[in-house]
Order: sequence, then structure tokens, then C-alpha cells
Amino acid sequence: MNTSSTAYINGQFVPLSEVTISPLDRGFVFGDGVYEVIPVYHGVAFRLDEHLLRLNNSLSAIRLDNPYSDEKWATVLNQLIEENQAGDQSLYIQITRGVAERDHAFPETSAATIFAMSKPLPASQQAPIKAITLQDIRWQWCHIKSTALLGNLLLRQQAIDRGCQEAILLRDGVLTEGAASNVFIVKDGVILTPQKSNQILPGITRDIVVELAEENNVAIAETEISEQQLLSADEIWVTSATKEIAPVIELNGKPINSGKIGPACQVMQKLFNQFKQTLRNQ
Ligand SMILES: Cc1ncc(COP(=O)(O)O)c(C=O)c1O
Repeated sequence: MNTSSTAYINGQFVPLSEVTISPLDRGFVFGDGVYEVIPVYHGVAFRLDEHLLRLNNSLSAIRLDNPYSDEKWATVLNQLIEENQAGDQSLYIQITRGVAERDHAFPETSAATIFAMSKPLPASQQAPIKAITLQDIRWQWCHIKSTALLGNLLLRQQAIDRGCQEAILLRDGVLTEGAASNVFIVKDGVILTPQKSNQILPGITRDIVVELAEENNVAIAETEISEQQLLSADEIWVTSATKEIAPVIELNGKPINSGKIGPACQVMQKLFNQFKQTLRNQ
């Protein structure tokens, strides 16, 4: 962990090692907060408007006012990018309901805690992964990017314990998403991904993949996907800000597409990389 990187806490830019948060912060006590993860390529926050919109949606869903306007967020985040050497990185933002006496009821007065930090992007972006299927044990409001991630952590850890990198989740026999990613499959030449609902996080990377496929006349549909369709898919991949488009080459110990990156995945990775490149050329 690079604790000498610069972080942002309640209006101040300070070394990450100097950030202090009260043990009475509701984020610590209850997981009463939301977050965002924004990739930065070549010093530019990728899809910033979409991330800020999702942040706003998460905050309204937990009945917490956004402490900043989008313009203020852009100023804070751009300074954070600059303070952390401008290039490629991943920004993490967390907003909690602040410090208050421990009580389930919302405090009548408390200032939100506003935190942001920068991390390097993982070297493993787009790397093939192995996955297992698990029952989606999480709550019903998975569209909120809540910091209360215990369900996701327990599921991801089961995958890790079985030598895999991701858990692909099924609720009542229907595909939802990964423990920290959205899922795409390919069946008979068509890319399929679950529709947005309160059962999944509306992934920013997911939306880019759908958009790029539509713009480039690649067959894609947002639809319900059964366990049977998942298990018999020709290709599977997962998407997230930090993984980008990562092919799943093994599911439940069985190779997918003979353990190789499938042709549709390669097409989408190429389109995604070209799209990112347009930022570098700006
Ligand atoms: C549960 C879950 N679903 C989907 C995603 C993908 O979202 P995004 O593409 O915005 O990173 C994430 C990202 O961490 C996640 O935690």
C-alpha cells in the first residue's frame, strides 16, 4: 500500500498516512455510506459524468445529500489526479453519513465524511480469470454502490479459496452479476448480459460495452440469463473499472471456449482499447 500518496479528506489534501477517521463514523460502525471507483487514463477521469451520476443515485437511495456539486467533484478529483502524478490510476471516493453517537436512526445533525484516494491501476486488467458460480446471498438493493460489502466479500473469498478470481452469482436460477463485476455471455454469436435492475450494480464498464457493441453492429441483447444458458455459454467475460473486460476461461472447473479468450471477447476488448485510446489522443 502506498501510504505516501495524496488523499482527500473533508476539504483537505493530505498524505494518505495522515488521514484519520473517528471510530464513531457511521461508515465504520454501520457501513452507512457509498463509494465510487473511477479509472484514470492519461490523467483523465474515465466517464466522470457517468460515475458522478451513479454516485448521486447511490446517495439519494440512502437518503444522504450529495455534499458537492458535480463541478466541485471534478475540481477535487482533478487536483487529486495531479497530486498523484497525473498518469493512469484508479480513484476511490467514499461518502458516509458522518460521525454520530451509535444509533440506527439517522442523526439529526451530522456532516458527511468525504474521502477520496488514488491507487495504481492493477497490472492484471483484461487478464483471463477462473470463476465459480454461487448463490447470490446479497440484499435486494444491489444497484446502490454501498460500502456495506460483506456479502460480496464472503462470495469473492469462496472463489479465491477454490483457486478462482471471481464468483458469478445466481439468484433463483437467474444470473445477476459477479461479486465485483458485471457478467456477459455469448451464445450462438449473440452477446447477452442481464438487464439493469435492483439486483445488479449498473456498471459503467458494462454500459460502455453495450454502447460499443451497438455502435459497431455487434449483436447484443440485455436479457434474463438462466443458469443453464450460463453453463452452456460459448464465451463468458466479466467487466469492471479495474478489470475492464476480463475473459472467464474456466467456470466451475470446466474450460470455457477450450480455455481460450473467445472471438467476441477479443472484438470487444479491441473496441474498448480503441475507445480508451481516444482519451490519450485528446
Ligand atoms: C458488484 C459489482 N458489480 C459490478 C461492478 C462493475 O462496475 P464498474 O464497471 O462501474 O466498475 C462492480 C465494480 O466494482 C461491482 O462491485
